[in-house]
Amino acid sequence: MRDERLISPHFIGEEDHQENTTLRPLKLADYIGQSKVKDNIQVFIEAARGRAESIDHILLSGPPGLGKTTLAAIIANELGKPIRKTSGPAIERPGDLAAILTNLEPGEILFIDEIHRLNRTVEEIMYPAMEDYAIDIVIGKGPGARTLCLDLPPFTLIGATTRPGLLSSPLRDRFGINCRLDFYNTQDLLLIIERAAAIMGLSIHKQGAEEIARRARGTPRIANRLLRRVWDFALVKGDGVISAKLAKMALNSLEIDECGLDNVDRMILEALINKFGGGPVGLETLAAVVSEEGDTLSDVYEPYLIKLGLIQKTPRGRVATESAYRHMGYPVSPSWKSDLFGADTEV
Ligand SMILES: Nc1ncnc2c1ncn2[C@@H]1O[C@H](COP(=O)(O)OP(=O)(O)OP(=O)(O)O)[C@@H](O)[C@H]1O
Ligand SMILES: [Mg+2]
Repeated sequence: MRDERLISPHFIGEEDHQENTTLRPLKLADYIGQSKVKDNIQVFIEAARGRAESIDHILLSGPPGLGKTTLAAIIANELGKPIRKTSGPAIERPGDLAAILTNLEPGEILFIDEIHRLNRTVEEIMYPAMEDYAIDIVIGKGPGARTLCLDLPPFTLIGATTRPGLLSSPLRDRFGINCRLDFYNTQDLLLIIERAAAIMGLSIHKQGAEEIARRARGTPRIANRLLRRVWDFALVKGDGVISAKLAKMALNSLEIDECGLDNVDRMILEALINKFGGGPVGLETLAAVVSEEGDTLSDVYEPYLIKLGLIQKTPRGRVATESAYRHMGYPVSPSWKSDLFGADTEV
């Protein structure tokens, strides 16, 4: 329902596709932010190059739109190896995976997006493939069935997931490199916006870029999308320049507040505070109130609300924090904290 949402971190429509091909950095040096992850990947790439071996299997996790797919493509590019992209739900049967694996070139990168959605029977083929570069396939049926062991070329699996917790531990343990991408800070988003503006040939003031960066939910995909929308405003309502004033006006018209929250986020906070007295409330109940799937709420909306300290996850459910009350313009009563976190919590 909310796919039209401007600040959806998900990929939407043709424009995002264009963005992918034109704005996606191709080299590690152009990949902004995530310095820890980047430094480590740099080392592993150089080590793999030095040993002329394929790089160990890599798991990239983190909320949508933070650059997992981009990073996978960069790794392949830096290694000078081809990359084959697929996704967990697209590989339905073990035979599908066997076909992909046996057709890989030596050193090829296999990228599986949403790897937490691989089904179990497919996943089991993956274990020996990752560990020993071999798969067992069953030929025929019934008593005449034979198992054939096929050797595979050395390859690197890069798995991407927004839900690392849903990966089975045998699968997770087979990744030698585990990288967690985190939300970007405003400074990094500013650089991402300035880079995108330069590629798109837009005129933008630094303060205008900062205004967009602050409201981009720590997410490059959203930053690039907001940049395009603000640019529309600059062309139609301004003089073609993205100044701080123009950016503010545009983002206000788009109902994105100074923390980057849109009306769905505010609906979630409003429901938590008003309908459920601040919580705790279960995920599915809260999702139903804002007409969303529980998974969408927990993958897309919640991580940023938690990051901003507006929502907390407790064993009994989701809770609106004091900051949420303030953000939504509600008074914070002294009884608020002791009710939710136990009487001994300092108020
Ligand atoms: N570090 C970065 N520097 C510059 N641009 C970036 C960076 N990370 C991401 N981007 C931009 O953000 C867009 C979204 O990134 P990407 O598609 O790689 O995200 P993702 O994590 O794979 O998302 P999803 O979970 O939805 O698959 C890219 O097209 C790219 O333009
Ligand atoms: Mg992706």
